[in-house]
Amino acid sequence: MDILVVGGGGREHAICWALSKSAKAGRIYCAPGNAGIAQVAELVPLPVSDFDGLTAFAEEKKVGLVVIGPDDPLAEGIVDAFEAKGIPVYGPRKNAAHIEGSKTFMKDLLKKYGIPTAAYEKFDNYEAALAYLRAQQVPIVIKADGLAAGKGVTVAFTREEAEQALADIMVSKVFGSSGSQVVIEEFMEGQEMSILAFVDGETVRPMAAAQDHKPVYDGDKGPNTGGMGTYSPLPHIAEAIIEEAIETIIKPTAKAMVAEGRPFRGVLFAGLMITPEGKPKTVEFNARFGDPETQVVLPRLKTDLLDIFLASLNGTLDQIDIEWSEDAAVCVVLASPGYPASYPKGLPITGLESAEAAGGALVFHAGTGKTEAGEWVTNGGRVLGVVGMGSDIAAARDKAYEAANKIHFEGKHMRTDIAAKALV
Ligand code: AMP
Ligand code: GLY
Repeated sequence: MDILVVGGGGREHAICWALSKSAKAGRIYCAPGNAGIAQVAELVPLPVSDFDGLTAFAEEKKVGLVVIGPDDPLAEGIVDAFEAKGIPVYGPRKNAAHIEGSKTFMKDLLKKYGIPTAAYEKFDNYEAALAYLRAQQVPIVIKADGLAAGKGVTVAFTREEAEQALADIMVSKVFGSSGSQVVIEEFMEGQEMSILAFVDGETVRPMAAAQDHKPVYDGDKGPNTGGMGTYSPLPHIAEAIIEEAIETIIKPTAKAMVAEGRPFRGVLFAGLMITPEGKPKTVEFNARFGDPETQVVLPRLKTDLLDIFLASLNGTLDQIDIEWSEDAAVCVVLASPGYPASYPKGLPITGLESAEAAGGALVFHAGTGKTEAGEWVTNGGRVLGVVGMGSDIAAARDKAYEAANKIHFEGKHMRTDIAAKALV
């Protein structure tokens, strides 16, 4: 079966890589992909926003399955566009992707169904929001309602920061219409974890849990990024807490979406906070695979990913055996100098081959390009995700850093403390 994967980052490289191992997979196309993805898929030069072009391509090539990576096209209804043409597609429809596309929708849903999350108020009026904010304690969290490339959330530790964030969203409109509503929510203390699950209606098949590192610098300092590194499993988090999160948050949310007439089919990704009392609470929901969570979760999946997608489309997700490797995986992201602010592109990259030759390391490309002469160059903020595998987190982490240290480009930045929390 020929497959089209939509997207072009490290997550899509990992998805294409996992699909390429399936005996049932024929040609794998990736639109637009990136230079690294070209190692496992044929690149299609169409942007993820070009629904007409993408559906026409899938029809012309008679692909048997389309898989959607990123959040923006999901929120815009790309799945509905493929379904309208009768093309099998894996991902949530627009009305279900809304759980990521609107924070006010997500918070109202959780409140209505009694699913644990931070207390909040929502506002579409700046003066009312400001008056409410002034009556609250800090720290406090200010969120733009819509998608904002991961930048719409401010955890404010001072009143000035909180008021600035509110004014940026509602007065300066730095996120455009994504900021026409805001959520002001209670600050939750604790440790974060991500649980991704294959969901089809009320059927929830959790994946291995992972932990991301969002701030750009060691010790969780500096501005938030898309994610600087991940690891899985989480040996320092009790299995009972993970179970509780699945039973009290993910399953009830899938059920709530069905009850609301928005059945979810695709990857539902819960960002969770484990409070100091050991209770999981919802921080956010995403309607897709995480990036870079996917880069550590899929290498641990023993079951054929294509079989899981097809089972979802056939309504048999509840019946398929899904097996996970006991091995641990650690992903270290190599970023461009300056990221997450502006950064140069086109910096020559060396050492990729020797990094991959280090047994147990996988290199997923997030933002790379190739020159006409065939040289690898940087082409994005997050450039590469280097994944080490091993019998435990310590072994996987050593592998990841050993391989990451073999790769060079000018100003290369990586955190040196990925997965350190799991070692203490
Ligand atoms: P989000 O885009 O909603 O995942 O938020 C980005 C990051 O902000 C999260 O990964 C958390 O680190 C932090 N965050 C969001 N909401 C809260 C909250 N209520 N309390 C503490 N931290 C939060
Ligand atoms: N790594 C966080 C995300 O994919 O949203």
